[in-house]
Amino acid sequence: MSLRTEILTSLETVIQIPTLPEVVMRLQHEIESDDTDAAAIARIISEDPTLTLKVLKIANSVLYHVGSEIVDVRQAVTRLGMSELRNLVYAVSVLRLMPDLPHIDYKRFWRHSISVAYTAKSMLRCCGAESGVGESSVSGLAFVAGLLHDLGILVLDQIIPEQYALALNMAGRNDGDSNAGEAGGESLPLCAAEQKFLGISHAEVGGIILRQWGMPNSLVEAVTFHNDPLSADEHRTLACIVHIANFVCNNRGIDNGTSVPPEGFSDACWDWLGLSVEEIPAIIDMADQDAEKSQTLMLLASA
Ligand SMILES: [Fe+2]
Repeated sequence: MSLRTEILTSLETVIQIPTLPEVVMRLQHEIESDDTDAAAIARIISEDPTLTLKVLKIANSVLYHVGSEIVDVRQAVTRLGMSELRNLVYAVSVLRLMPDLPHIDYKRFWRHSISVAYTAKSMLRCCGAESGVGESSVSGLAFVAGLLHDLGILVLDQIIPEQYALALNMAGRNDGDSNAGEAGGESLPLCAAEQKFLGISHAEVGGIILRQWGMPNSLVEAVTFHNDPLSADEHRTLACIVHIANFVCNNRGIDNGTSVPPEGFSDACWDWLGLSVEEIPAIIDMADQDAEKSQTLMLLASA
């Protein structure tokens, strides 16, 4: 059996494959429905006491200048809005997924993912008008796509740790106790090394997991093509946004905890989004603010 087939079989059968808590999926469906309200959203979140406590703690933190203290989830929905609250619930929930991994720095991984999520969402402000994706529902998609774009890395490190270490080494991993290029030859970009060594990339694995979770096709496509966004079809814009957000965060030193050099940048996706050179400082500025916000959110959510 090829390693690719073995991995694909594991994705369908192995019990360690992460699942998002049911509360997140129900919340997602409720927000997408036309006749939802604050009470319905609050009821779903309140069914999970740990999540509720964290959401209230974050809602009352310096991240949100809400004025008087928020004491229940219903107030949080009203003050923060359904979309922002859903983003919070996602961010808090993913931090519970697979904390024990052999080759990934878990905190760095999620700080990167949360930063990419916020930066992708912020980027809609720069490119929404030109690309026609500025609607509020898309801001949620950009956040979740950014948050989950590298999920496949966690999954591969979980299900085939030894082979994945070799793929990381082939991608030039340097975490102090491994040698870059250990698997032989010049180091390759991470997706290329995974493809060559495992027959599948973390981007494809992430897309498969999201499809298994019943996520919308836009998210599946954005995650699958985040390193090769021009190959995306219907949801190329979302894939390009995640690609640029990922690049900017890596460029600001917010890396994904794999200790491999960051992936390259596709100029063509800059053009696809209709961005101009003058917008670069604003995007970097947003990414810096988002990185700070992500660090605070990480501390609050994992405390
Ligand atoms: Fe990636």
